[in-house]
Amino acid sequence: VTSKEPRVGESMGAVTLVGGGPGDPGLVTVAGREAIAAADVILTDRLVPRAALEWARPDAEIIDVSKSPGGRSTDQDEINRLLIEHAKEGRDVVRLKGGDSFVFGRGGEELLACADAGIDASVIPGVSSAIAVPAIAGIPVTHRGLSQAVTIVSGHVAPGHPDSTVDWAALARAGSTIVVLMGVRTLEAIADALLAGGLDPRTPAAVVADGTLPSQLAVRADLAGIAQAASSADVSPPAVTVIGDVTGLGLIS
Ligand SMILES: C[S@@+](CC[C@H](N)C(=O)[O-])C[C@H]1O[C@@H](n2cnc3c(N)ncnc32)[C@H](O)[C@@H]1O
Repeated sequence: VTSKEPRVGESMGAVTLVGGGPGDPGLVTVAGREAIAAADVILTDRLVPRAALEWARPDAEIIDVSKSPGGRSTDQDEINRLLIEHAKEGRDVVRLKGGDSFVFGRGGEELLACADAGIDASVIPGVSSAIAVPAIAGIPVTHRGLSQAVTIVSGHVAPGHPDSTVDWAALARAGSTIVVLMGVRTLEAIADALLAGGLDPRTPAAVVADGTLPSQLAVRADLAGIAQAASSADVSPPAVTVIGDVTGLGLIS
């Protein structure tokens, strides 16, 4: 019997969802690092800091279930099946994701699947790119006197698309800082929808790509010009777009 195989009568393993932060390995939490170091199996993603996997035990099994746009991907049902199968075999499983598992990370689906299968599961929150990437570029998502609210929106589906459930016109009137994830491809349509909803074209905006990484790139313009500015700078995912007066503070140039 190897250390990885459950002995007769041994209890099942557990699943821990670990948020890996936005990319800089220094932004993985202490608890996250400890869970990675203790895991028998790690299911990892594309936006996870690669260096974090060096903290794993040498005998840990690392399974890459990256979902790269247009590339190889592992179906969510298959990921859930792997989590459950390994835990049932007595292994402690870490599901390692970029940012925080519950911010567009499907962590909720994975916890529900574990609960349905009777597997113990827990969450170690991560530093979400939605807050951290603006922060590293000197943009506080709230600021006294400028913004009392922040809305985190997926730009994966463009405004007006039949699958879109976001009321962009309402967002334009909400007085909230708007943080868009997964919105590089749809940036022009998003800016147009906010302008059509009445948001001032001079509202400051920024797109921050590869936030916290050495390749970090920040592009700033007003709302009317942000899509063109991002396109001229060849911004590519992953990137966070921030729209709102906080973006104009210029805390870090
Ligand atoms: C599927 S969502 C996952 C978000 C993640 N769970 C989080 O809390 O950060 C992926 C999106 O997060 C954003 N993102 C993640 N890491 C980033 C980074 N280092 N720089 C800029 N954007 C990032 C991008 O908008 C990207 O398209």
